[in-house]
Amino acid sequence: MINWVDDPNIELTGKRVFCRVDFNVPMDDEGNILDDTRIKAALPTIKFLMENNAKVILASHLGRPKGKPRRSLSLESIGTRLSELLNSDIIFVEDCVGDGVKRLINDLSDGGILLLENLRFHSGEEKNDEIFAKKLAQNIDIYVDDAFGAVHRAHASTEKITHFVKPVYGGLLIKAEIAALEKIVQSPAKPFVMVLGGAKVSDKISIISHMLPRINKLIIGGAMTYTFLQAQGRAIGKSKFEADRVAVAQNILNKAKQLGVEVLLPVDHMVVSTLEENEQARGCTDYIADRDIGVDIGPETAQSFTRALLDAGTIFWNGPMGIFERADCQAGTKALVKAICKASAFSVVGGGDSISALNQFGDVNDISHVSTGGGASMEFIEGAQLPGLKALGYVI
Ligand code: 3PG
Repeated sequence: MINWVDDPNIELTGKRVFCRVDFNVPMDDEGNILDDTRIKAALPTIKFLMENNAKVILASHLGRPKGKPRRSLSLESIGTRLSELLNSDIIFVEDCVGDGVKRLINDLSDGGILLLENLRFHSGEEKNDEIFAKKLAQNIDIYVDDAFGAVHRAHASTEKITHFVKPVYGGLLIKAEIAALEKIVQSPAKPFVMVLGGAKVSDKISIISHMLPRINKLIIGGAMTYTFLQAQGRAIGKSKFEADRVAVAQNILNKAKQLGVEVLLPVDHMVVSTLEENEQARGCTDYIADRDIGVDIGPETAQSFTRALLDAGTIFWNGPMGIFERADCQAGTKALVKAICKASAFSVVGGGDSISALNQFGDVNDISHVSTGGGASMEFIEGAQLPGLKALGYVI
């Protein structure tokens, strides 16, 4: 059981609260933030801590710098964005441990915010190193984890630190994430339609296996489609597929049949003969010619997926239907987003690509819950024991 930070019995005034957030946001090469969804998602907990006069010490990772400082992965510009969103000053410190951090924590006013530099600039973070975790835990009274996107990682700031700071609490984002994800796993309104897209069948095997007995329809799009179509002996031309996963795809199709789960695969496609951008994608039937590569679902497929979604009681979506970054290959993902937004179902969307497609073609306000965790939400739904949640007391 997790103790939540908004428990009215917790005294936060004047307390030094280490709050782990997930500010791992997409950035361009110049360090500009491309999507601030995760920063916004952390605001309720940060505001709650400020309003309750805690001294707030925010810590996050950004990217995969492999234990070494990298200017392009500094959290400084995220601090600037956070300060705008909060309409409040924040202090940024160029490390996450050491004497400078200690001094600034001591000087921090009640309700003030200190943002630490990228945790992954130290190799101890990803190694879940005890010495590094002890350093993070120094000068801290309370630990709060609100980094849902990182709860599937056993890292120093998500797991080991909880051995050295007491009490520990879950933040408001993690609370909302668990409530939504538990709802779809434990008591989904029927029909439950799960939509999976993206590149690899291998990334989705566990979630499909775990969820098949719980869902009514499985919609498959994206590049993983072609492995399934290959398993059915259909013509997929030069489309990318995973040769070593064809048997797995076949097993999934067999199991779905046994369980009475309807699997919806594309019945038409958008194709190109080369991935060069100057070639415009064209439509084709379910027979992809030898020279062609599938890059999106076709219009008939989009209609059939839309019908299933509009009829759903619960929807879970992860992964785009095609190469939606390209204007000529985005109609399928766009149609899917529109259908999920229009559906009256309880809907959950997870994964970075799906969220950016949602921002591009739809309105997040039409979705019941947008999960900030790609890997974390998938592993949660797969029924895995996530180390960051276990550290907070959530044991499955
Ligand atoms: C994510 O983006 O899924 C989380 O922030 C975790 O990042 P990671 O995959 O680099 O550990």
